[in-house]
Amino acid sequence: MAHTFKDDDDGVSNISVGTHVAQIIENGIAASASRRSFLKTGAGLSLLSFLGLGATACGGSGSSSQVVAKPQGGAIGVLSVPTSSSDSVVVSDGYGTQVLLRWGDPVLAGAAEFVGDASEGWAQQELQAGDNHDAIVFFPFTAADGKPRSDAGLLCINHEYINPEYFFSARGESWYAPLDADMVKKMLAAHGVSVIEVRRNAAGGWEYVRDSGYNRRITGYTAIDLSGPAAGDPMLQTAADPAGVEALGTLNNCGGGKTPWSTYLTCEENFNGYFGTAAADFAPTAHEGRYGLNKDGFGYLWHTADPRFDLAVSRNEPNRFGWVVEIDPFNPASKPKKRTALGRFKHENAECVLSAKKRAVVYMGCDERNEYLYKFVSAKAYDPANPASGANLLDAGTLYVARLDAHKVVGDGKGTGQWLALEFGKNGLTPENGFASQAEVLIRARAAADRVGATMMDRPEWIAANPRVSGEVYLSCTNNSRRGSSETPTSNKADGTTVAGSARPEIDDANPRAVNNWGHIVRWNETDGDAAATTFAWDIFLLAGNPHLGGDMAGSSNITFDNMFNSPDGLQFDPEGRLWIQTDGSFSNTGAYAGQGNNQMLVADVRTGQVTRFLTGPSGCEITGATWTPDGKTAFINIQHPGEVGSHPNRPTSTAPYDNMDAYVHNNPTAFSRWPDGDAAGRPRSATVVIRKNDGGVIGT
Ligand code: FEO
Ligand code: CA
Ligand code: CA
Ligand code: CA
Repeated sequence: MAHTFKDDDDGVSNISVGTHVAQIIENGIAASASRRSFLKTGAGLSLLSFLGLGATACGGSGSSSQVVAKPQGGAIGVLSVPTSSSDSVVVSDGYGTQVLLRWGDPVLAGAAEFVGDASEGWAQQELQAGDNHDAIVFFPFTAADGKPRSDAGLLCINHEYINPEYFFSARGESWYAPLDADMVKKMLAAHGVSVIEVRRNAAGGWEYVRDSGYNRRITGYTAIDLSGPAAGDPMLQTAADPAGVEALGTLNNCGGGKTPWSTYLTCEENFNGYFGTAAADFAPTAHEGRYGLNKDGFGYLWHTADPRFDLAVSRNEPNRFGWVVEIDPFNPASKPKKRTALGRFKHENAECVLSAKKRAVVYMGCDERNEYLYKFVSAKAYDPANPASGANLLDAGTLYVARLDAHKVVGDGKGTGQWLALEFGKNGLTPENGFASQAEVLIRARAAADRVGATMMDRPEWIAANPRVSGEVYLSCTNNSRRGSSETPTSNKADGTTVAGSARPEIDDANPRAVNNWGHIVRWNETDGDAAATTFAWDIFLLAGNPHLGGDMAGSSNITFDNMFNSPDGLQFDPEGRLWIQTDGSFSNTGAYAGQGNNQMLVADVRTGQVTRFLTGPSGCEITGATWTPDGKTAFINIQHPGEVGSHPNRPTSTAPYDNMDAYVHNNPTAFSRWPDGDAAGRPRSATVVIRKNDGGVIGT
């Protein structure tokens, strides 16, 4: 029988409902068990008023003009594109795209061109661009006059994972198992980060500089410092690293971010999936279970060929993943650092801003069903006149987790919220409750967040801070099929299977749908506009949905037949304050998703709520990561995993002559996409895409 894999996002690890409710009561806060419908709540009133219905629809709520009147830029001048199920990138009229860097493109000196049938080994792969491009950040070079350049710089690109089904050259039914160590090493070599030098060229496009001295590949086996309060803790010690201060590699690098001192933040997300064991007597501890570790992982089987990934052999190795990693792209010799002060969970992205007193504030989501929203506030301030003052700023500070108190509605119709400190000795994070030190609070951040009564959210993905409104921040909640105890469990899995026994918190006003197939975007305003504040007011900016359906399934009133989508994931503001939304959801184009087509990129005016579809992606992909040159005239985005069968409209009902879909795709690797090369004998390839306006203007205007 051929091998099969689990989808990355099928899990639920939070079984902490009992603790959660108990702690809320212990804290003296009435639990909100309300099942009121979304539109009758405070958040709903706020949304209606925000979307321009307030003055008439909401009568005396008194909330209608507050958000709309904010002075900010970011008007949209983009023509909407229709949905698409084609195997191509389609962009709004007046724009052009160019493929810049694909999986397998040569990056480092000595690298070979991509073979085409993916037959290269690890030694070639580690010199080439990795796979599954996700976050991307442009770091401009500085011109002679001291200004940042918009025609040359560095790109940092995450390589989140690999698609085993088309990562190797085809070899029949038993294509994956047994694995050998070289296959594992090739997969590790395609993970991590690429740093590449890029520049405008004479033809008016962009090119990457092959063999640039800045070019760098950080992989699943690059030496990385463990830094901050948890470094050296016994839980981080292994036989290979008895001091617990140096990890090997970074994995599942999903979203990312940029610091004010021009370093890159890359985020480790579904690291648990790579671990497993064949040991019959292995049973995960509560700590391991809370992070989704189990014997099978996602089916990668790395443990069968590399003992580092065998849970029974290297019990502490998983504790060395799940961190935010800081990289200095301008210093190729610098060693990346895992910043343990930012906590260990399934990190999506890391949005870094400065507070009123210039402390570094990093917003972070933990992307799994019913997980939490976090932020870190540095102990010391950053001095913008002295970039070196940022060097180890992320090693000391306070990690907080959010509680959104839906039942406390302030005068403008918004909910209120609290940032709860995850500090050893406070809020019940004590030895009596199983926390021995601040290091343990950080390594077990999910458990610490359970303990303090944080709000379970519908899969927190990217977070974006509005550059025009200090302290205003947006969060993608991508979807959640495991909420509301009286609802019938459903699943986003294409085969319709469900995961039994998982916690199912009630809906609340911040996560208002029991079966949230389409996702939503939550917004909050920190008190006094200060990112370091410990309180905030929040509302729902957008509830995605399908207008073909009724009630709250139709989405908020700014969702129409012309702009509908599901599963917001990537979320970034451009330099002028337009909000760009990228999707990673069902592209079945049927049922709940009828009329929504392939994954897409949209742009929103956060002052008016207007949302316009800007781009659609090729078959099977998600759109993720976006970064702009300082002049706003070039955008770089990533097309990730084209060719995944997923919910493809032409998904075959029979995989014959192969045993299962993974084996079928392995032996028909371009069955669902030939993007971007168009080569039937090649591979679908994740890639960075350049977007320019044909008239050379600012993207989005
Ligand atoms: Fe890797 Fe949650 O996306
Ligand atoms: Ca992704
Ligand atoms: Ca994502
Ligand atoms: Ca996603």
